[in-house]
Amino acid sequence: MAAIIVPPKWQMPERSITPESIFCARRNFIKTFGLWGLGLVAGLPFGCGPNENAAKIGAQENPPVADLYPARRNPNFILDRPITNEVYAASYNNFYEFSVFKGSVYKKAARLKTSPWRLEVAGLVERPRTFDIDELLRALPLEERRYRFRCVESWSMAVPWTGIPMRAFLKLVAPLSSARYIRLVSFWAPAEAPNQSPTYGPWPYTEALTMSEAANELTMLACGIYGHPLPKQHGAPLRLVVPWKYGFKSIKSIVKIEFTAEQPRTFWNSNRPHEYGFEANVDPATPHPRWSQESEKLIDSGERRRTLAFNGYGEWVAGLYS
Ligand code: MTE
Repeated sequence: MAAIIVPPKWQMPERSITPESIFCARRNFIKTFGLWGLGLVAGLPFGCGPNENAAKIGAQENPPVADLYPARRNPNFILDRPITNEVYAASYNNFYEFSVFKGSVYKKAARLKTSPWRLEVAGLVERPRTFDIDELLRALPLEERRYRFRCVESWSMAVPWTGIPMRAFLKLVAPLSSARYIRLVSFWAPAEAPNQSPTYGPWPYTEALTMSEAANELTMLACGIYGHPLPKQHGAPLRLVVPWKYGFKSIKSIVKIEFTAEQPRTFWNSNRPHEYGFEANVDPATPHPRWSQESEKLIDSGERRRTLAFNGYGEWVAGLYS
């Protein structure tokens, strides 16, 4: 049986949480996700409380390269805070294809079929092809990196990701010099993801980076977390990690990577451009139209910390924007 852990002190009292049934009924008045916006439900915390079995509930049935964990840790990335308790990270997720309730994503995302999984590489690239996920992850060395992760909703965590540096992936597929952007596309499986109805689209979720952002040393394609394959709620079997940007840029469950000359449309930026910019770099000095970005709350302890410009990664990325 799943053990229920006592919620952190900062969690909202049960009475102030909108019950899921009432909240869902309101969807009749809200026609698209575009009107919901991130943060609308940011205050709704774990729901039933963080579940110590959440990572197991979301575990992939047949994870790729399972024999390669734990990967060698890259010592260049040092944290200024404790690693987030995995129970909290695995129980508090944004994955809108499954639920707007962070605390129920791990249960609903368990329905996603992640095997077999293919990644299509297309567009302005010398070697377009479709990889089986296991084949791709065996072609490049896996490593572990400890990164801070800052959501635009002003919560944060610090987690050990396992994956391949995007730089190594770019070398493998060789983008053409005419490629100026990289577009990443998430899965499309309405039979498995209850919110992937036309009403809440446009699906699939997409994201994009400039080529220089993609080629930055920090950018990662992650296939694991906490020393094991990604549970489905974290975006199994492959997701993006760009730690100097707000979390919505770190697209989950990627099926396609395309190289383009024009700036692609992206999920949140095209839905609510005045709230979610294309660049979306963590910036404490620029408030979100509906809340301040000066501080952030750590999801396990509830500690409040000052938000760092570029989430503390200016040393690596500030030069990209000067
Ligand atoms: N990717 C997809 N496909 N769908 C989503 O809803 N949410 C984004 C991002 N990637 C999202 C996504 C947001 S808003 C955040 S904050 C992070 O995933 C959350 O990652 P985590 O649940 O692993 O902490």
